[in-house]
Amino acid sequence: MRGIVYDEGALRVATDVELREVRAGEVKVRIMAAGVCHSDVSVIDGTIPFPTPVVLGHEGAGVVTELGPGVTGLEVGDHVVLSTLGNCGACSACDRGKPTHCRTTLGRFSAPFVVGGRKAFQFANTGVFADETIVRARQAVKIDQRVPFEVASLLGCGVITGVGAVFNRARVSHGESALVVGVGGIGLNVLQGLALSDALPIIAVDTNPRKEALARQFGATHFVNAAEVDTAEAVKEICPNGVDYAFECVGHPALIRQSIDLLDWGGTCVILGVPRFGTEASFVVNTLYNDKTIMGCRYGAGRPHHDIGLFVELYLAGRLKLDELVTRTYPLEDIQATLDDLHHGDLARGVLSVGSAG
Ligand SMILES: NC(=O)c1ccc[n+]([C@@H]2O[C@H](COP(=O)([O-])OP(=O)(O)OC[C@H]3O[C@@H](n4cnc5c(N)ncnc54)[C@H](O)[C@@H]3O)[C@@H](O)[C@H]2O)c1
Ligand SMILES: [Zn+2]
Ligand SMILES: [Zn+2]
Repeated sequence: MRGIVYDEGALRVATDVELREVRAGEVKVRIMAAGVCHSDVSVIDGTIPFPTPVVLGHEGAGVVTELGPGVTGLEVGDHVVLSTLGNCGACSACDRGKPTHCRTTLGRFSAPFVVGGRKAFQFANTGVFADETIVRARQAVKIDQRVPFEVASLLGCGVITGVGAVFNRARVSHGESALVVGVGGIGLNVLQGLALSDALPIIAVDTNPRKEALARQFGATHFVNAAEVDTAEAVKEICPNGVDYAFECVGHPALIRQSIDLLDWGGTCVILGVPRFGTEASFVVNTLYNDKTIMGCRYGAGRPHHDIGLFVELYLAGRLKLDELVTRTYPLEDIQATLDDLHHGDLARGVLSVGSAG
């Protein structure tokens, strides 16, 4: 089968990818669609260190094709969105509804693929840039079959990360002001989470002026083109005392610092962007005394079975924008063109159409 493999500094569309057998508690999923998130780029450019060879992709949806021994609650043919967590379901973190705190969710480096006779890892416990993958059954979240795979795939990272950061981590309330730095797939979902929470004003910042229309479509009330104007001055004009929430969705220490500096008293900076491993950021201590908070946020502090179900309901009710997130679809083989378009700032999300419905 096919798979996008990163190995020895090169990306290639491999056709000699195989999967090992499906083990107890696992399912095999035929991938139908996979979104391209910046975190996949970050593996290629070394921002996120990951063992190789690795099958990339972590934002995917597909059809269950095989159940491992002991799997209950799923059937062959189910349409599923894949979560990257694969939490154990039995520890105290899982029990108190914080699966992103489950210690089994990071550093597991599962390797269900075989490429050219070598064991190959799956990025973020998923590896969805492939015709099929194997995940823990808990990672396969069954969804309503009315949701097209292309939009369903985005629920697996961009949507849960962005909307989840607003709903689960920051818990923004109506009338609170917010700043969103970086209007990519993550930032757009923060924007729509803020709009659903009736935040006001909602200020979007990007260096790419073509992101303005998208930002406004997803709920921004103001747009700042950081390539042309001073972001701090522009934000202070709208919110003279600063903002209640600032979401950094790029992964740059200078933008994290700026986001902290733009907080109002009692304000909260939520860091979503992932800079190069080991990067340090700074802040002036006394600027935080007035009850300001800096928070990290992984995977929208999400609870995949709860949140993805909620997002599907909001989408089917016409409240959550998913169709609008898909700028273009590409065949799996066109991964490089997708990455180029992402790099040039042409995409909300680019989605690889992997499988065919037949
Ligand atoms: N915390 C998490 O769990 C999590 C999950 C997924 C992705 N991420 C991270 O979120 C970040 C964004 O991912 P994405 O998929 O939205 O990326 P993207 O490439 O789609 O979007 C990035 C956006 O930032 C803008 N940008 C770049 N430099 C800027 C600057 N100086 N000022 C303002 N805007 C600027 C770009 O124009 C682009 O619109 C990445 O670092 C990614 O690794 C984090
Ligand atoms: Zn992602
Ligand atoms: Zn656990």
